[in-house]
Amino acid sequence: MAEVNTIPWDWYRDPAVLAHEQEAIFRRAWHYVGRLGDPGDVVPGWAGEVPVVLVKAGDGTERAFVNVCRHRGSVVAEEAGNRKTLQCPYHAWTYDLDGSLRSAPRSDREDVDLRDVALVPVRLEGWGPFRFVTLDDEAPPLAELLGDIPERIAEAGLDVDALAFHHRVDWEVAANWKIACENFLECYHCPVAHPGFSSMVETSPEAYRLHAGESHWSQFGQLKVRGDAELPEGQFHFIWPNTGINIFPGRPNLSIGPILPLAPDRTRRILDYFFAPDATDEWVAEFLEFDDQVGREDARLVELVQRGAGSGVIPEGRLLPQSEQLVAGFQERVRAALAR
Ligand code: FES
Ligand SMILES: [Fe+2]
Repeated sequence: MAEVNTIPWDWYRDPAVLAHEQEAIFRRAWHYVGRLGDPGDVVPGWAGEVPVVLVKAGDGTERAFVNVCRHRGSVVAEEAGNRKTLQCPYHAWTYDLDGSLRSAPRSDREDVDLRDVALVPVRLEGWGPFRFVTLDDEAPPLAELLGDIPERIAEAGLDVDALAFHHRVDWEVAANWKIACENFLECYHCPVAHPGFSSMVETSPEAYRLHAGESHWSQFGQLKVRGDAELPEGQFHFIWPNTGINIFPGRPNLSIGPILPLAPDRTRRILDYFFAPDATDEWVAEFLEFDDQVGREDARLVELVQRGAGSGVIPEGRLLPQSEQLVAGFQERVRAALAR
């Protein structure tokens, strides 16, 4: 009989482990940052702990940069918006949307040559409206990481290019980032902890399908009552190391975003919501209320795990080999990354 132990619970509380993860995992990974709409759009985000910014120039060229001023290191773009330039809030060094320094106050009166100064570019790739960056020039192409996710989503009847961006939510939970990822990766807890979700979606082990890829892990749940739903199947995809994608059954919807470590026991969650362009306000409000309920239930669960597993008295836990196989796959990836 298979016996699967969890990763050491110390890894949920040790600052040295988080520092190692930033180097060994986040510096090498692809990170979902956001979506770009019109020329002039500027979208700040994170590649792990590194601030990055997506920019769409006037001619439509998309670029990404380390969002750090080459003067004294302030974050340059704090808020998303539509701009002609990127101006640092500290001393107003101003960069063109191609990253080059356009002007620096007083620099013409002093003996200084700033001609070579530019924001540091980072690799940018996309799928549909979703833009990802990596700080690692050696990282395999994004498409390799995504595997069959785009195909699965298309098969479910969702055209990601036809979705309209609706809004972004940004919140924090008092738990290690891996606890949040692991909670995303199983629905063993759904019948117990998500009564609303489980009354709508089949969560029994026979009906709820799990798929483990190399770098992504997917879950599929059917509506209990199919009715005339455009999307009879919900899909929940997780892309190594920290991007989650939610598609609930029903009408066209998708939310995507990173799970970002802030401290060993603190995690930031960002989710971008997309709906069909003709989705009514009433339906969206109802959808978000449901989604919020599930989110609140999950926040409580992960914070309970942090307090328990993170208390330092018990070395590790156990996993169910079937129902928690995606958690096991994620933990194996974490172990391998930290062992390198
Ligand atoms: S740090 Fe950016 S202008 Fe000084
Ligand atoms: Fe959950």
